Amino acid sequence: MARALITGVTGQDGRYLARLLHGKGYEVFGLVRGQNNPKIDILHRELPFVTVLNGDLLDLSSLLRAFAASDPDEVYNLGAISYVAYSWENAMLTTDVTAKGVLNMLEALRLHSNGDVGRIRFYQASSSEMYGKVQEVPQSESTLLWPRSPYGVAKVFGHYMTINYRESYGMHASSGILFNHESPLRGPEFVTRKISSAVARIAADLQTTLTLGNLDAQRDWGFAGDYVDAMWRMLQQDEPDDYVISTDETHSVREYLDLAFARVGIDDWSPYVEQDPQFMRPAEVDLLIGDSTKARERLGWKPTISFEQLVHMMVDSDVARVNGTAVEH
Ligand code: NAP
Ligand code: GDD
Repeated sequence: MARALITGVTGQDGRYLARLLHGKGYEVFGLVRGQNNPKIDILHRELPFVTVLNGDLLDLSSLLRAFAASDPDEVYNLGAISYVAYSWENAMLTTDVTAKGVLNMLEALRLHSNGDVGRIRFYQASSSEMYGKVQEVPQSESTLLWPRSPYGVAKVFGHYMTINYRESYGMHASSGILFNHESPLRGPEFVTRKISSAVARIAADLQTTLTLGNLDAQRDWGFAGDYVDAMWRMLQQDEPDDYVISTDETHSVREYLDLAFARVGIDDWSPYVEQDPQFMRPAEVDLLIGDSTKARERLGWKPTISFEQLVHMMVDSDVARVNGTAVEH
């Protein structure tokens, strides 16, 4: 039985990935941080097959213990401070966790492998946020990086450190440059989930107003379940590499609002939506659209859920939650 260690197992992607790997017969270990982390209960309830290991990306010795306990064949480094807006207010913490945390993981792998680094495959969760002020449209693996947030800068560090360990030590370390991906498990701080949960509450007369920031931002939004499959495919390749994972379509926040409100029968959302400068960012990433040709050709990967299906899935799930008829995702 292959063994996989996942950091960030309590997050959106970690939960989808844990389920995918369990379905493929892996023994799954998940790193969980903090004292009495409330999300441990979610893991025990939804993913009882995950062996929980206590550790923090900031603490190298805890990572070494996690490697010793799991002795993994594959490592998926998904743990990060992942909310871009928060990263300006907590730039140093974001750098420690999202940038230096990657280095801690690479070092833990190197030390644990005892000179045989090739036996453990490593996935780094890089991000389209690294493209920031985009230098090319669409963005591919060779597009110049120009991050626009402390989070983006931290991800660039992790990305290049992963490449550096691959080139320096011959590590099977791959970096997935994933564009935005969403699901009913998305955190409520991200715009798609913020909208879907508000729409469900507005439809149930529990809320009257949704306050947002920049409605013109464009993102290449896909479904998280598809994207964790791409992570797994990367680690099944003979050679490590970097891959863009995207739908290759872009949509604005306004288009997301159109579809989300229409799903509950509201065609004009303008009476419900307000804009507030507090949700604007010091530097915005205006447009993201990926070119995932390499992943489609080499990994045989492609997205299975369209933008419209994604919006409907998220709104339906939040409507079910509000009505008390929620189903598991
Ligand atoms: P998420 O839901 O925010 O999950 C982040 C995870 O990181 C959580 O499990 C969190 O644990 C964990 N974490 C935070 N600080 C940690 C620390 N100091 N030590 C150990 N773990 C820590 O993020 P996601 O959407 O699943 O994304 C997964 C990864 O992909 C992240 O690295 C993200 O930056 C990257 N990414 C995401 C997207 C996207 O669109 N979703 C796109 C590109 C890249 P707690 O639950 O305890 O807070
Ligand atoms: N969160 C949020 N809240 N975003 C808003 C709001 C709001 O009220 N109003 C408008 N937006 C705009 C943001 O300014 C941004 O342009 C866009 O909606 C998407 O914001 P988020 O959903 O917060 O995602 P993100 O694109 O900043 O970052 C996500 O995707 C990255 C990949 O490109 C995160 O998952 C990152 O971790 C990930 O790396």
